[in-house]
Amino acid sequence: MPAERTLILLKPDCVQRRLMGQVISRLEDKGLNLIAMKMLKVTSALAKEHYAEHVQKPFFPALEKFITASPIVAIVVEGLEAIKVVRDMLGATSGLKAAAGTIRGDYSSSRQMNLVHASDGPEASAREIGLYFKADELHAYVPTLTPWFK
Ligand code: TYD
Ligand code: MG
Repeated sequence: MPAERTLILLKPDCVQRRLMGQVISRLEDKGLNLIAMKMLKVTSALAKEHYAEHVQKPFFPALEKFITASPIVAIVVEGLEAIKVVRDMLGATSGLKAAAGTIRGDYSSSRQMNLVHASDGPEASAREIGLYFKADELHAYVPTLTPWFK
């Protein structure tokens, strides 16, 4: 089974609530490799590209306002079955419905402000990684330095 890559966004609520470290710790603890990471402000144009499937939905104007409100952190993680593994770690879309033990279930009580985005399949992952990162910004590596302390 080859390793997969998936795009994760720490949304404006995650950054503002200072939960970035908690989310990144969960990804690292799970054994996923972070291979790219940057902070950026999502523009309206990028919001429409990222959420292309939702642009016509009634909730989109509010979603666009939220996702462009303040900086986000974009991350690419790599690991076995990473796309499903990360979606399962996030839990259901609404923080009100997400199971306890999931990131959204543990930290969000909102349908919209659910802290973290993750790609929902291989096509979305390839498309979304391309929206945020150039090929030479992806830094796949095999950990070779553990244990590094003696
Ligand atoms: P969606 O792709 O359905 O969820 P997910 O993030 O789990 O893939 O929707 C994209 C985002 O839009 C979702 O994270 C939160 C927001 N959203 C709303 O604000 N209201 C809604 O009714 C839905 C379905 C989503
Ligand atoms: Mg989605």
